[in-house]
Amino acid sequence: MNDLEQTLSIIKPDAVERNLIEDIKSIFTKNNLVIKENKKIHITKEEAAEFYKVHQSKPFYDQLCAYLSSGPIVVMILEGKDAVLKNRKLMGATDPKNADENTIRKLYGISIDKNSVHGSDSIENAKKEIKFFFLN
Ligand code: CDP
Ligand code: MG
Repeated sequence: MNDLEQTLSIIKPDAVERNLIEDIKSIFTKNNLVIKENKKIHITKEEAAEFYKVHQSKPFYDQLCAYLSSGPIVVMILEGKDAVLKNRKLMGATDPKNADENTIRKLYGISIDKNSVHGSDSIENAKKEIKFFFLN
């Protein structure tokens, strides 16, 4: 019918800790992404390991899982036109040093690991990630 999509967004522990939840949410809503679902949770390292399973062979995997489970996070379903790509553009590059001006990671990211947000990278992964947090 149209290209309304849903994607999964996570506000990571470094941003929750610095009270950036509302600032980050307002970037999404100002850019026509609707927050359909939203919850603040604290996941276990095992849950983080399951969520980031695609990265299990990477050298940073263990640290990444420890980090995502280190404090509260906010998980959201964002909905809008081209939501997957739009969210990735609003987030900016993985390493805040390389992120474009005014992206979330440029504005708020501290380092490549403490980069404030996660966003699904494809429609297929968005479906899996939404299911992981909201449909089980
Ligand atoms: O999050 P994004 O999709 O931009 O990047 P990724 O390549 O899917 O990596 C997932 C997460 O792993 C990143 O957001 C970083 O927090 C972390 N990472 C890291 O700690 N060190 C790296 N060299 C690469 C990624
Ligand atoms: Mg990724």
